[in-house]
Amino acid sequence: MPTIENTLTSRLSTATRAAFGWSVEPDLRTATRPEFGHFQTNLPLRLARPLALSPRTVGERLIGALDVEDLCLPPVLAGVGFVNLTLSPEFLVGQVAARAADPHLGVDRPDAPQRIVVDYSSPNVAKQMHVGHLRSTVIGDALVRVLEFTGHEVLRRNHVGDWGTPFGMLLEHLAETGFPEEPDLAVLDGAYRSARRRFDEESGFADRARRRVVELQGGDSATRSLWERVVAASTDAFSVIYERLGVRLQPGDVVGESRYQDQLQATLDDLDALGLLRVSNGAVCAFLPGFRTREGDPLPLVLRKSDGGFGYDATDVAALRHRVAVDGADRLVHVVDARQGLHFEQVFALARAAGWLPEEVRAEHVAFGTVLGSDGRPFKTRDGGTVPLAALLDAAEQRAGSRDVGIGAVKYADLSCGLGRDYVFDLARMVATDGDTGPYLQYAHARLATLLARAGGAPGPVTTLEHPAELRVAFLLTRFPDVVQDVVSTLEPHRLCGYLHRLAVAVSAFYENCPVLRAEAAVRSSRLALCAAARRTLAAGLDLLGIAAPDTM
Ligand code: ARG
Repeated sequence: MPTIENTLTSRLSTATRAAFGWSVEPDLRTATRPEFGHFQTNLPLRLARPLALSPRTVGERLIGALDVEDLCLPPVLAGVGFVNLTLSPEFLVGQVAARAADPHLGVDRPDAPQRIVVDYSSPNVAKQMHVGHLRSTVIGDALVRVLEFTGHEVLRRNHVGDWGTPFGMLLEHLAETGFPEEPDLAVLDGAYRSARRRFDEESGFADRARRRVVELQGGDSATRSLWERVVAASTDAFSVIYERLGVRLQPGDVVGESRYQDQLQATLDDLDALGLLRVSNGAVCAFLPGFRTREGDPLPLVLRKSDGGFGYDATDVAALRHRVAVDGADRLVHVVDARQGLHFEQVFALARAAGWLPEEVRAEHVAFGTVLGSDGRPFKTRDGGTVPLAALLDAAEQRAGSRDVGIGAVKYADLSCGLGRDYVFDLARMVATDGDTGPYLQYAHARLATLLARAGGAPGPVTTLEHPAELRVAFLLTRFPDVVQDVVSTLEPHRLCGYLHRLAVAVSAFYENCPVLRAEAAVRSSRLALCAAARRTLAAGLDLLGIAAPDTM
């Protein structure tokens, strides 16, 4: 079924055409205050001048032509040129009942499902995951869930950093000192650091490390098998974290940087044949129009460094090309730190210039901000090191007293903050059961579950809605499909968080104002049905965020 927002938008368009002969986007908004009804449009205000009429006259004619009787109470002209629309209680009763019967809660399958590649999490092999990877993992997982729920096909790509010159050091060091017996990430991380120290200080080691890189890239079997052991130990450790976080990433989703290596030379050759490359200071570069350094100099994408090695730029270009040409992606989503914004703009621009990214394929960088410590600076340990993600999760679980609540708290805090913004990692605030937090939503859900369990039996349909608090919950329930589709187009999970928080607040106001179990039979049954629909919507919404919704708390 079409969403209410879409239905009202199309009715308003029809009315504008009938009344004035114009096609104008009604730009329907949800009302900012309850006394403004449920939706508002400022069409009268916007059309007054071009029509040379007063906003009031435009509004009256628009309302005269507007046919929404089946959905709304009589439309109201308000303020300096708004039309306020309020859904009628009868309509809401029907809508809540219809959505309650739908396993998808009113969210339609798309006419043309897309194949969407989501590149996320993407930690680096032989290093522990840190808070930055928390963001990519949690945001990426929420987007994957929303896209899959709305009927799109998602290809998850865990683009792990498993290639490049630093591996020469690590592998040479491990070859000389022996592969650790328990190669967890703390051990590999330590080995990596020792290797780096030796690289800087021990004569001869740097040369041997460089030779290792050549051997690795040349496919030398001993080096290769050592590398495989490092990668396997690392991805095993990542899996432990993913399981703990309850994210959908599987070992099969690991398609690391190494997988694109055999395509790099061809990528370069093809770009060269297209005349897109130039050698600058010994490096093979692409200079794209419009990209400049802060000093105003042309900013290149470096496809091959002056030492002959391919880097991150080349791998991302090759990966993008592969994802479109071979994986058949209709949309590409990269969930990566905001500091890599320019890098992705360049990669997209080059791929467009090369014809590898057709116009109809959307390529997006979902750029997220930094996690800060209480001092407002990037979150670090006391001695200035990066904070391992595992330690953070330990602390959250301990503080919250359970995994579901602790992990849910951390995830919600991350997802509910606007994507580009930085936020302070403040566990005390995250696990609070009041305020805009994960536990608050989980608690609202558990309270409904408890009430429904106490009432016993499956509730019938919603039959009557009278109290404003009841109507508010019902209205919010009908918003679910629009909010979910909004996340599909904007890739901003905080919109869903905000919605679920509003719903939880409305449910708690409903409790305060509307007795359920003590109400007379007909009202009791209708209110129980409303509670059941609210519980399902909260559970479904939390699930889309990757947050557990326990029945008791
Ligand atoms: N491995 C990188 C890091 O840990 C992130 C990779 C992001 N994905 C990509 N396609 N470049 O910072």
